[in-house]
Amino acid sequence: MATTRIGFVGVGDASVVYLKNITKKCKELEIVGICDLVRAKAERASAQYGGLKIYEDMHALFADPAVDIVLNLTRPGEHYEVSKAALQAGKPVYSEKPLAATFAQGQELVELAQAKGLLLGGAPDTFLGAGVQGARRLLEEDVIGQPVGAAAHMLCHGHETWHPDPSFYYNAPGGGPMLDMGPYYVTALVNLLGPVETVVGVTKTTYPTRTITSQPLNGKVIDVEVPTYQTGILRFASGVIATIITTFDVYSVPGVNHIEIYGTRGNMIVPNPNDFGGEIKIKVGEKDSPKAAQNWGHGDWITIDSPYDIYQEDSRAVGLADFAKALQTGRTPRASAALQTLHVLEVLEAVAKSSAEGRAIAIKTPFTLQPALPLTAEEGVF
Ligand SMILES: NC(=O)c1ccc[n+]([C@@H]2O[C@H](COP(=O)([O-])OP(=O)(O)OC[C@H]3O[C@@H](n4cnc5c(N)ncnc54)[C@H](O)[C@@H]3O)[C@@H](O)[C@H]2O)c1
Repeated sequence: MATTRIGFVGVGDASVVYLKNITKKCKELEIVGICDLVRAKAERASAQYGGLKIYEDMHALFADPAVDIVLNLTRPGEHYEVSKAALQAGKPVYSEKPLAATFAQGQELVELAQAKGLLLGGAPDTFLGAGVQGARRLLEEDVIGQPVGAAAHMLCHGHETWHPDPSFYYNAPGGGPMLDMGPYYVTALVNLLGPVETVVGVTKTTYPTRTITSQPLNGKVIDVEVPTYQTGILRFASGVIATIITTFDVYSVPGVNHIEIYGTRGNMIVPNPNDFGGEIKIKVGEKDSPKAAQNWGHGDWITIDSPYDIYQEDSRAVGLADFAKALQTGRTPRASAALQTLHVLEVLEAVAKSSAEGRAIAIKTPFTLQPALPLTAEEGVF
């Protein structure tokens, strides 16, 4: 078994779980080295993981033949320049979400990767979790019939209560709840319902400023320059209509940050797609659903155990393990930019664009559903 060597650009907050999961769960991945604009962050991460190599900057990392894949863990507004430079240096790139701060930048990256013959893909990988993969199998087994509609809510009061440096969520390109949290929801939705065809959106900014209450910037006031309450209506190619709300303006409602799918025979609750696992629930309608009736009866909400034993807890980095296997074997990664993350970005951006322009936006990029995870899969191995 050959290992694939990963170079980290950015070792901020999100790197904690990647460092842990690559080390603990992904036996076919190896961390070859790291870099960060803030040297102290790189030194801290290096010390925690037994003296990881620290590169002077991202260009030194790209120049190292020992790096097989660049893992871009910078902030959304920085994804484009980092991924572009890595591709230009001849490296495949797996980027945190969103693919780029704008659809135009994302498109440019996909075109550059194609021109160079390099793989490009990225987060989120929560759609590989037991929750969404389990729900996908139930839909394929026709348990709730044909999907008709869906609803997705991500309600929270913003990240300034916990993130150490949250300004980028409010005033940098790629900020706002739709580009930050929307990727989890729209990625799950397309993996369950197929590609999106048209988007209508209405958005607003409720608070002109936000005050940081986390450390070390407690008390600092952030100017808000992005819409922080975003509602979208998505029409899928299948005819399904979904509503999506993402917001940093209101408090969450218990249990609401999941996805609901309404089918011809019953309804399904898909667990929060920001998580990997969680309970799948089904309520079958009065009309006949033979498989559901046989297994679970009619009438009440039934909790279903996902058929997957793995990826119940935070497994961020497994999408990277899949990407690495795709690189080694020549197959398409499950989280491909050309076939998934660019489509998701186009949909997310279309919500604010539709609101600003007062019209429906047609989605042009493809989404291609990749194979479901095999039920017998070994954790972290693809
Ligand atoms: N924080 C989370 O809980 C979380 C969870 C999932 C995904 N994400 C995603 O992860 C990404 C990073 O978020 P974060 O919260 O870790 O941000 P962060 O600000 O904590 O970390 C980003 C790091 O990237 C470094 N960086 C930026 N440009 C660089 C460059 N050219 N070379 C080297 N280092 C560079 C910064 O110095 C910083 O340390 C974002 O895309 C975010 O959407 C974050």
